[in-house]
Amino acid sequence: MALREIITPENPVLRKKAFKVTNFNDPKLQTLIDDMVETMLDAPGVGLAAPQVAVSQRVITVRLSDDEESQKEYGDQAGVLYVVINPEIIRTSDEMVEGYEACLSIPGYYGNVSRHSAVTVRGHDRHGKQIRIKAQGWLARVFQHEIDHLDGVLFIDRAKEIWRVAEREDEDDEQVFAREDEEKPASEAAE
Ligand code: NI
Repeated sequence: MALREIITPENPVLRKKAFKVTNFNDPKLQTLIDDMVETMLDAPGVGLAAPQVAVSQRVITVRLSDDEESQKEYGDQAGVLYVVINPEIIRTSDEMVEGYEACLSIPGYYGNVSRHSAVTVRGHDRHGKQIRIKAQGWLARVFQHEIDHLDGVLFIDRAKEIWRVAEREDEDDEQVFAREDEEKPASEAAE
């Protein structure tokens, strides 16, 4: 396994529609997945899409933190690693929720984005087996964010407002995050 470099919008791969994976036996795919997981955990982030490491393939990894706070808030979803290949959102809630998002590819910024409160994702696991995931709340948001990446869409395209993350020593920091209600501060939950 190896860490990969996370690209920013200067690299055009981030804005391309990624290709579907067709060969699940390709050892390069398995290496890519291992590297993505390592890179996501190292960042740290709660999700990563292959275009973010400059690979134009429809692969995402998602993992909510398993620390105590996260376990309290997300229960069984905390710490579960999802690897989804060729993911598709096949069902969405009518209900939309606004929440804060950040992105490892757009360091230093966060914004408020309206997302479906629940989605069902269909795709394949790393061995090609078909899987289906029902996600709600924060997990649903992360899936929508990552699947957007596969179409070259970034949260800044959808955000109603975008802010710069205040420096830690900046006293504005607290005020900025005092606005959050149900979602985690963006600086702790980059995708
Ligand atoms: Ni992102």
